[in-house]
Amino acid sequence: MYKIVIEGGRPLVGEVTLSGAKNAALPILASTLLTNGVTVLTNVPDLSDVRTMGRLLQLMGAEVTGRGTIKVDSRGIHAFEAPYELVKTMRASVLVLGPMVARFGRARVSLPGGCAIGTRPIDLHLDGLKAMGAQVDLRQGYVEARCKRLHGADLVLRQPTVTGTENLMMAACLAKGRTTIENAAREPEVEELARVLNKMGAVVRGAGTSYIVIEGVDDLHPVEHAVIPDRIEGGTFMVAAVVTGGDILVTNALPEHCDAMIQKLRASGADIQAETGGLRVRGTGAIAPLDISTAPFPGFPTDMQAQFMVLATQAVGPSVITETIFENRFMHVSELCRMGADIEVRGKTAIVHGEPGGLQGATVMATDLRASASLILAGLVAKGTTEVLRVYHLDRGYEAIEKKLTPLGAAIWRVRADGP
Ligand code: EPZ
Repeated sequence: MYKIVIEGGRPLVGEVTLSGAKNAALPILASTLLTNGVTVLTNVPDLSDVRTMGRLLQLMGAEVTGRGTIKVDSRGIHAFEAPYELVKTMRASVLVLGPMVARFGRARVSLPGGCAIGTRPIDLHLDGLKAMGAQVDLRQGYVEARCKRLHGADLVLRQPTVTGTENLMMAACLAKGRTTIENAAREPEVEELARVLNKMGAVVRGAGTSYIVIEGVDDLHPVEHAVIPDRIEGGTFMVAAVVTGGDILVTNALPEHCDAMIQKLRASGADIQAETGGLRVRGTGAIAPLDISTAPFPGFPTDMQAQFMVLATQAVGPSVITETIFENRFMHVSELCRMGADIEVRGKTAIVHGEPGGLQGATVMATDLRASASLILAGLVAKGTTEVLRVYHLDRGYEAIEKKLTPLGAAIWRVRADGP
């Protein structure tokens, strides 16, 4: 296994290019099951989660080749099961459920189970498929779904679910008739998936809003598509620029995907300018305290909560950060406190008593993907040496982050470590 070692205290200066968005690539890879041919995806991030999705499609009989540019030949699909061994490592595997039932009339997908940040139920996915006519049973930890042909339905989601919206949107594309999804997730990755589905011949309208209408068609054809940049990776580098007092041009960031983050960074005193090449983000000295509450897009993204908590540790005065999406997404707090942060958690809210320059390097443990990113950020700003263990969490969502940080002036290395 590996750990990442960081010598903190250096301002990050230079230019960084974002990789393709993990949370766009995963549903798009699953959507290839809806077609009968060879799909070519470019700008796909080379991440462990993407490789896991590729292995899942191969298990089902697809031919998946390439890294960065991935080809999926879905003509040989002969198995309709997503096994526990794979699903337990990546809950986004559930995204094959909708396409499988829609195209093949059957699916057996392991229940994803919980993960570090929460119980992560999929009841909204299953209720939607049932409303579209699928027989759905839970047996021995698996979802077994069957339906000769799904029919359109008017779906109302109890709360916006990103992968739930994506699963149901994909299923509805091949259903007979019209499906509407009310209270749909509005994330850019949902909109990107709809863009790909429409290129495949689907009729999806309203993606990116909370009301999506899908007219079912009989079949979809493969496409070529370039994946959008990763807004969460982008936000992570923006925080890195501000928290180290640096100056980073994030060359391919899409401002319309980052509005809530940009607003909070500006409120903290950062200077952010849209330039022809992307977004330039500069730390300008004193960091003002933050008041953040995570929410579904276009609200402040829960996937950036841990990273902004590091910024809050450098603010002059107390910040308030409330996590409204997941029930257990404060596991980075104890590790940040071991680095000298002063954070108290009261239920869904963390009060961060900032102290500029108050973090000291330490050996810390990553617990989940975005928590690990926050520990890297903390190491970049802390005095002395920080070692982040269990970086396999980080590699799920960041493509060789140390290789992107080094040219910006970071003193950061990936070294072998014993143990997990
Ligand atoms: C997606 O997860 C992302 N993953 C997550 O990113 C992200 O944190 C999350 O959306 C919220 O933005 C992918 O896109 C692959 P949800 P998802 O369904 O779809 C509840 C990362 O770091 N819910 O939007 O699984 C659920 O418990 C990952 O890249 C139900 O109750 O999240 C949660 O409280 C972490 N029943 C809320 O909805 C359901 O059937 C939002 O979850 C589904 C969800």
